[in-house]
Amino acid sequence: MATAVGELRTRFARRHVLGLEDWTREEILAVLDLASEVKRAGLRPPEGLNLSGRALCTAFFEPSTRTRLSFEGAAKILGMRTGDLSVEASSVKKGESLKDTILTLEAMGFDVIVLRHRSAGAPHLAARWARKAHIVNGGDGCHEHPTQGLLDAFTMRERTGGFEGLKVAIVGDILHSRVARSNLWALLKLGAEVVFCGPPTLCPKSLEALGAKVTHSLEEALSVADVVNVLRIQRERQQAGLIPSLKEYHREYAITSRRLARHPNVKLVMHPGPMNRGVEIDPEVADDERICSVTEQVTNGLAVRVALLALLLSGGEGE
Ligand code: NCD
Repeated sequence: MATAVGELRTRFARRHVLGLEDWTREEILAVLDLASEVKRAGLRPPEGLNLSGRALCTAFFEPSTRTRLSFEGAAKILGMRTGDLSVEASSVKKGESLKDTILTLEAMGFDVIVLRHRSAGAPHLAARWARKAHIVNGGDGCHEHPTQGLLDAFTMRERTGGFEGLKVAIVGDILHSRVARSNLWALLKLGAEVVFCGPPTLCPKSLEALGAKVTHSLEEALSVADVVNVLRIQRERQQAGLIPSLKEYHREYAITSRRLARHPNVKLVMHPGPMNRGVEIDPEVADDERICSVTEQVTNGLAVRVALLALLLSGGEGE
């Protein structure tokens, strides 16, 4: 592999991965560049990196398919030992606190703990309690999902060539989406423009304070976008009544092939998954790999997580 891990490590010196809001453009690019090399090498670990004595545990207090399995897969690619705290079958059910759970996992020798939690800020607390483990945020409430932001940026760069002048529309339930926030921080730092689009109840004008444009008109968003990132309606996080009905939402905001045909400027449709087919995205768009990268994003997620773990673990003791 072209880039020595030690060289990239000088561009990335974080102990924890909590959110992209305070990351620099350089740090984001360090992960994307190494991920490109990992992908090109057929998802093989960076040369000269031996992490066989290290261990990663996933601790997901909310459901997950992609994030949990790809962290486990990435750790295995790197030769690490893996564990999974099955929350439902764990002592969390007996009332064990998050702090004691983190300290227990650490005492078991896990170097990396990937935490997903319904409470925004839970990984930040875990990072304060952890004595030497690296805490990685696998999604905290409506706040951030940094590795999704990184893999989405990776996919956009690969598909479009770069971020300068790139216009990205993020469509859907922005209010409850940690993916929207992590995408926004990454994209603004990389030089792209972001338009949030959705109904006023799920995409209020106040979000403009974050640095994106806000529109409630899908036609307007599609008419400027090179890339559309489609988000799921987060029914589990909303109070009732924020949208009149899923049918109505589909009529106003679904990404359909008819709509895309009117906007040939849109080159890429993305979705972090899980999709509600027939609600925010039509099956014929979702299944068209020429325009939609939903499964490619999953593969890219592996490369990005291999790169991130390599960077996190290549500097500390034991390496
Ligand atoms: C997202 C999540 O859990 O934040 N999914 C993912 O990690 N790929 C998005 C979602 O739940 O809609």
